[in-house]
Amino acid sequence: MLTGAVGAVVLTALTACGGGDGGSTAASGGDGTITMGFAQVGAESGWRTANTKSVQEAAEEAGIELKFSDAQQKQENQIKAIRSYIQQKVDVIAFSPVVETGWDTVLLEAKRAGIPVILTDRAVDSEDESLYETFLGSDFVEEGKKAGEWLVEEVGSEPTSVVELQGTTGAAPAIDRQEGFAEAVAGSPNIQVVASQTGDFTRTGGKQVMEAFLKSQPDIDVVYAHNDDMGLGAIEAIEAAGKVPGKDIKIITVDAVKDGMQALADGKINFIVECNPLLGDQLMELAEKVVAGEEVEKRVVTEETTFTQEQAVEALPTREY
Ligand code: AHR
Repeated sequence: MLTGAVGAVVLTALTACGGGDGGSTAASGGDGTITMGFAQVGAESGWRTANTKSVQEAAEEAGIELKFSDAQQKQENQIKAIRSYIQQKVDVIAFSPVVETGWDTVLLEAKRAGIPVILTDRAVDSEDESLYETFLGSDFVEEGKKAGEWLVEEVGSEPTSVVELQGTTGAAPAIDRQEGFAEAVAGSPNIQVVASQTGDFTRTGGKQVMEAFLKSQPDIDVVYAHNDDMGLGAIEAIEAAGKVPGKDIKIITVDAVKDGMQALADGKINFIVECNPLLGDQLMELAEKVVAGEEVEKRVVTEETTFTQEQAVEALPTREY
């Protein structure tokens, strides 16, 4: 029943947003308008909401017809959406893969249909790079490193127990942020990651996992959350346990969306590594180029910064997302 319901949601989204007939006629108009099929991960976080808005607004501005689907964090929904875009003969497919592996078959189908694919935000773990034109997004390993480097600097030689709230299991940002952080703290044996579990990039997930950590781990010094939303969930759990977030337990997160930045400015989070969701304009530019058959860079990495509490107070009034 559940599979049926999810399938219905995806198909409804495709029909509603595409406005097309879902059949096999060419999606691009004869007027040269580009049609893009975009398979989004879901709506799991503030970052994702900002990313979706950026893509939708940029498509409208560029005059690109956007067929949008929300996979509700499920790979099978994204694969269905991509197959539907292939059937509709869109000009270009863009998607942000829920997880890294398991894409070769559907990417090969797109290639055989002559439809270029752009990976945005998250990468795939495929040996055959000819299955997609380009990747546009962040360097997640670097983000994890920045988080770890701040901690090394902050705690010096103090014994420090860290609990890690991981993103979605198998997702590029979860794998890479864990790896980058581990690399940065590897030379500091006083810093120990004592527990690590997925909170699926959601606020509820972060809260639930943190509640469990607070029960099973007697001395937590630091929470490293792979995104702001899970960090915000952890704050709720810490406060409910009668502790002070940012003081009794320090918190490091990734993203720098408004809610996270507010908590940082309020002293409840201690450090945020930025991950930029505003990829829409660059994505549309790349789409225009690949549809025109122009060469593009295989990997386009966005520039990002970090924020301390003082920097968050300064940045908040003009923060876009
Ligand atoms: O892939 C980017 C990550 O996905 C963001 O950091 C997180 O908030 C989102 O859910």
